[in-house]
Amino acid sequence: MQTFETNSEEETIELGRRIAERLPRRAAILLTGKLGAGKTTLTKGIVSGLGAANPDDVTSPTFTLIHEYSPRVYHIDLYRLDRADQVATLGLDEIFDRDAIVLIEWGERFPELMPQDRIEIRLRALNGDRREIAITPGVAGLSFPAPTATPPAPPGIPGSL
Ligand SMILES: Nc1ncnc2c1ncn2[C@@H]1O[C@H](COP(=O)(O)OP(=O)(O)OP(=O)(O)O)[C@@H](O)[C@H]1O
Ligand SMILES: [Mg+2]
Repeated sequence: MQTFETNSEEETIELGRRIAERLPRRAAILLTGKLGAGKTTLTKGIVSGLGAANPDDVTSPTFTLIHEYSPRVYHIDLYRLDRADQVATLGLDEIFDRDAIVLIEWGERFPELMPQDRIEIRLRALNGDRREIAITPGVAGLSFPAPTATPPAPPGIPGSL
């Protein structure tokens, strides 16, 4: 887990842009934290960092529930849903199967419907405009930041260096 602190909305957007640079082609990103913690703000940075939309055009998809910013970038907000059968009608599995970055606010409310292999970003308001943002990378292949452990070297080929 890696933890960051930001002191303003702009800094959180900038952190989102930096996260975007480190993402694999396909990732489910759960954004957790209370109302107003900054989930949508961080999403603005990630989506703009991916080049899929301007920050101002990224808003919580409260009525449509899913925003498609590009065929590779989706933003889902499950706050208004309270039953798993409602979530099932959204066809999330089909979206998770795509080579896409899928950002999910309030996904922790339906853990059984979220992919096992996911990146979790927990946001917490500290005093004033400070926010603590903790990132837990997913398992191999969907990790942030890049895994520190290097894979074992392949067996040497006799006669080569
Ligand atoms: N460091 C900061 N990072 C992010 N947002 C901040 C920060 N400081 C203040 N804010 C303010 O906090 C609010 C965060 O709102 P945002 O919509 O991103 O939260 P949210 O977690 O998505 O909430 P919701 O659960 O309602 O979807 C904004 O009004 C933003 O201006
Ligand atoms: Mg939000």
